[in-house]
Amino acid sequence: MYKEKILNLLRSASSGYISGEEFARKCGISRTMVWKHIKSLEREGFGIEAVPSQGYKLTTIPDILRQSDIKPGLKTRVMGKAIHLLSEVASTNTLAMELAARGTPEGTVVIAETQTGGKGRLGRKWISPKGNLYLSVVLRPNVPMHKAPLLTLMGAVAVASAIRTTCGLAAGIKWPNDILVSGKKVSGLLTEMSAEQDRIRHIVLGIGVDVNMEMLELPPEVRSLTTTLAAEAGAKINRTTLLQQLLRDLESWYQRFLTNDADILEAWKQLNLTVGNRITVSGVGETLAGLAQGVDKEGRLIVRLDDATMRTVAAGDVTIVKE
Ligand code: BTN
Repeated sequence: MYKEKILNLLRSASSGYISGEEFARKCGISRTMVWKHIKSLEREGFGIEAVPSQGYKLTTIPDILRQSDIKPGLKTRVMGKAIHLLSEVASTNTLAMELAARGTPEGTVVIAETQTGGKGRLGRKWISPKGNLYLSVVLRPNVPMHKAPLLTLMGAVAVASAIRTTCGLAAGIKWPNDILVSGKKVSGLLTEMSAEQDRIRHIVLGIGVDVNMEMLELPPEVRSLTTTLAAEAGAKINRTTLLQQLLRDLESWYQRFLTNDADILEAWKQLNLTVGNRITVSGVGETLAGLAQGVDKEGRLIVRLDDATMRTVAAGDVTIVKE
């Protein structure tokens, strides 16, 4: 608590230095305690200059996510009411599924700075270096199981909207839920579910967004297909602001999903980069080639194959064929 107060004082000190005495007076603690909190902030990565007889001045702010920065500006009712913020985890999805099975409330969010076993779609790995966003949200919608794919589309709509609002970039969605900017992937979603009979017990919406990482952190084979928000915007992105906007957008789109899920498909179509293009679909045994004709009510992709037969695809990897 005192550490946060000291940090807030440092942040608001427009004229530069604040003396140890002033901190001590404003916080009602000793100067030794002030010094201990300053050292602790330095260990977290804050750059603090100390000048004898003048005091302390904040010189650099680390790019780390902190509960005390995320919570105040959030203003959501459900999303992020409980936030588990970790420096490292195997997979935020795996942890969120465990918490969900133990009864954690809807809207619980697990966030990590890095993942050692990040999971991607179709059994792939999700390389998770520092500087990006990795989060998983627990949802408990009272809807039948066949609505689950729509929830993933809902997540994609929320991610694309948050990127548009926060970074001013024209983010679009490649079916089912890859978020692209300038034709390259910046974000992916992985939904995991627990169900009984035909009802969803809980669902975990896992979201990875490539924000500020160095591209060299990625293996060469994925580098050419991927970009980061920072690279596209030409400046580092404030991850806290993006995360807060994402949780707000998830909250409002989730409400719309619960009240009128047709809205989700409409919004998805507005952001869609797939329908209307020639595509190939791979990753599920066979490779299909044809025209992406539309999505059905459940969010499955309708493809008109070259021999004019129609196919409906529930999963797969789409490549848009440039003509
Ligand atoms: C994809 O393959 O496009 C989906 C990637 C999903 C990655 C996110 S990162 C946070 C969450 N935890 C995981 O292990 N995976 C998802």
